[in-house]
Amino acid sequence: MTLFDFTVSQSDRAKMKNQTPLVVWFTGLSGSGKSTIANRLEEKLHQAGKHTFILDGDNVRHGLNKDLGFSESDRVENIRRVAEVSKLLFDAGLIVIVTLISPFRADRNLARNLFKKGEFFEVFVDTPLDVAESRDPKGLYKKARTGEIKNFTGISSPYEAPDAPDFRILTTECSPDVASSQILSRFFKI
Ligand code: ADX
Repeated sequence: MTLFDFTVSQSDRAKMKNQTPLVVWFTGLSGSGKSTIANRLEEKLHQAGKHTFILDGDNVRHGLNKDLGFSESDRVENIRRVAEVSKLLFDAGLIVIVTLISPFRADRNLARNLFKKGEFFEVFVDTPLDVAESRDPKGLYKKARTGEIKNFTGISSPYEAPDAPDFRILTTECSPDVASSQILSRFFKI
């Protein structure tokens, strides 16, 4: 299938926004702190005049992906769709922040492979299971332990930690504010 070659390009759109688009992909357990750090990061980018968008697992599952659950094949499809949407938003010239558990290495690689080197960064929000479970912000770990929720990541469904993430945040050692500042200076030179 041949693609129609539209006149206005990704770089034209990015230039008009006066920014270099990229994708920051957060992976980590439920309750690891992905959304909190992403929120802080977006606030700071916004203050710096950057055009951003967050694709968050919980939010996307209310709309685009509301037909998907948490079986392995549904997660694969969830991640595939979000990866494709992140590519569209990237082509629109935006800085895209993704917060998905994205537990499988192969799916994260599939997302990365949609982009060129230097356009996609994987950030591992590294929170040990016992810490995420003790935070249990949505009470889901408790339900997973009693079996009320099936296939729960870290309890009854696997999480494959990244071997070589572009950046690793140890949330037991730094605040969301510090973590977001580190990402800002590392990938955005802000
Ligand atoms: S992913 O595995 O497909 O990447 P995603 O990030 O979209 O997951 O959604 C994870 C969120 O869904 C969790 O933060 C939690 O609020 C909720 N959730 C509900 N059921 C589950 C489950 N079985 N496993 C993990 N998260 C779940």
